[in-house]
Amino acid sequence: MSREKGYFRTQLVHGDDADIDHGGSASVPIYLTSTFKREGAGESNEEPFGRGRMGNPTKEALEKQLAFLEGAEYAFAFPSGTSAIGSVIASFRSGDTVLVGNAVFGGTVNLLKKIFGNYGIGFRFVNTLDLKSFEDSITDDVKAVIIETPSNPTLLVTDLEEFARIAKKHGILTIVDNTFMSPYLQKPLEFDIDVVIESGTKYLAGHNDLVAGFVATNNKDLADWLKAYQWQSGVRIQPFDAFLLLRGIKTLSVRIDRQTENALAIAEYLEKNSLVTKIYYPGLSDSQGYDIQKKQAAGPGAVLAFELDEKVNIPKFLGALEWIFFGGSLGGVESLISHPASSSQRSLPDDIKKATYISDRLIRLSVGIEDVRDLIGDIEQALKKATH
Ligand SMILES: Cc1ncc(COP(=O)(O)O)c(C=O)c1O
Repeated sequence: MSREKGYFRTQLVHGDDADIDHGGSASVPIYLTSTFKREGAGESNEEPFGRGRMGNPTKEALEKQLAFLEGAEYAFAFPSGTSAIGSVIASFRSGDTVLVGNAVFGGTVNLLKKIFGNYGIGFRFVNTLDLKSFEDSITDDVKAVIIETPSNPTLLVTDLEEFARIAKKHGILTIVDNTFMSPYLQKPLEFDIDVVIESGTKYLAGHNDLVAGFVATNNKDLADWLKAYQWQSGVRIQPFDAFLLLRGIKTLSVRIDRQTENALAIAEYLEKNSLVTKIYYPGLSDSQGYDIQKKQAAGPGAVLAFELDEKVNIPKFLGALEWIFFGGSLGGVESLISHPASSSQRSLPDDIKKATYISDRLIRLSVGIEDVRDLIGDIEQALKKATH
């Protein structure tokens, strides 16, 4: 059976069946080895595998599955989402500028500022919700633009098709961090985006138990760079983590379906709660970008953000939660809650925080697969304890 024939949920489960012979095993084995036997002196390092640093069958199976799911020719798996982003940025040179959506994970900005700034790669913020101002900000030194949609943490939605059209007109590389969606909900390459990056730590792994990332693209030059980068630096996913990601991908649709159902119910509950002054969630019909999200994604996902009234003591609220886990990260089966202004977005400049609605009253919730009655009950009891 050709894997192309199935529906996407089937492909998530069986997409790794093709191409590689693992002795008929139902799941891809973990190849724990640091090197592979060579055919003879003078033979290439590359075929089929050389040193562990250069390749591994578990990693290769994962990358084939990721490329297939994203509709890409090439995929490369990394030890974190951040290292995946860094591998692409490392392909630029001193004097180049990367535009960064003003609504992105703070770690992406820190990577550009604290690491790549040392190598002369500059960056500037852009607002891709206003495509005219995005276009106006493309100068000769700009080589690429990286955005998230929906963005972390206030779920702002950029029109991918229009964004890609403008970037193409000016010959710059488009990079979309698809972490909040996963290929189950959104495939940026279908909208003519050049590069998709994801933190596999989140929805793909799905269990808050590993750190990983990947890059997928149809751009051969970038793929050649990424291959060389992994070979020469050894920055690549380890076989055990590759196995766990392959396993996570099989249940992706079931988890996201339940998580989205729960997130919608929580958003509707929050809408009715007088202690909640604002909700950011692309599943609500009055949210920014609701129609665009419907056009380009198969669902709103399961991360939402909301602002709490001044009457609520936020540290008390977070400390009073019993089921919902107060901690960074998102996308796992356990619901996680965070306070972006003091964590992931802390180091962003104040004007960027303001433009992307990150206030001290903002809470981000990554909804898990628990019974939603327990989650709503937990929010309710914690609000009660924290309100004066
Ligand atoms: C949108 C987004 N991209 C990338 C990352 C970085 O992922 P990792 O923790 O796997 O490096 C995160 C982490 O929270 C994120 O939210």
